[in-house]
Amino acid sequence: MERTLIIVKPDGVQRQLIGPIFTRLEQRGLKVVAMKMLQVSQDMAREHYAIHRGKPFFDPLIEYITSAPVVAMIMEGPNAIEAARATMGATNPVNASPGTIRADYAMEVGRNLVHSSDGPETAAAEIALWFDAREIIDYGRDVDNWILER
Ligand code: RTP
Ligand code: MG
Repeated sequence: MERTLIIVKPDGVQRQLIGPIFTRLEQRGLKVVAMKMLQVSQDMAREHYAIHRGKPFFDPLIEYITSAPVVAMIMEGPNAIEAARATMGATNPVNASPGTIRADYAMEVGRNLVHSSDGPETAAAEIALWFDAREIIDYGRDVDNWILER
C-alpha cells in the first residue's frame, strides 16, 4: 500500500487548522500510520526542500517552514500520494479548486498550509528524513472493508 508524507505547516498550526486539515484527509479514507509535532531545524528544512535550492522563493520558504512548529504524518492508502495532493489542491491557493484544503483555507503560495509528497521516490526519501522506522505503525483497520474494494 502506498505511503505519503503530509505536513501541516506552521501557518496551519498557528491558525488552529490541524483538525480541519487532518479531517479532510482522514475522512477520505487515508490511514494515518505515524504522526508527531516538531520544530523543523534549518538543516532539516534545507534538506526537505533541497530540490528548490537556488530558486527565488527558497530563503523565504526555509524561513516559513522553520517559523513555528509543524505536524508531520504519514498516510497510507491506494494511490495515497495522488489522493493527498488532490485533497490539498494546487500549490498556489488562488489556482486551487474549491473544496480543496488550499482553496478553502489559504490565500497565498507562501502560506499554503500543507505539504504532501509529490511522487513515490520523494515520498520514500521524505518519510526516511522525517520519521524513524520505529515511529511507523502497521495496523489493521476494520473499516477498510468499507473503504477498499480489495
Ligand atoms: P509542497 O512541496 O510544500 O507540498 O508544495 P508543492 O509540491 O505544491 O509545491 P512545490 O513546487 O514543491 O513548492 C514548495 C513550496 O514552496 C513554496 N513556493 N513558493 N513563491 C513561489 O513562487 C513559490 N513556489 C513555491 C510553497 O510554499 C510551496 O508549497
Ligand atoms: Mg513539493
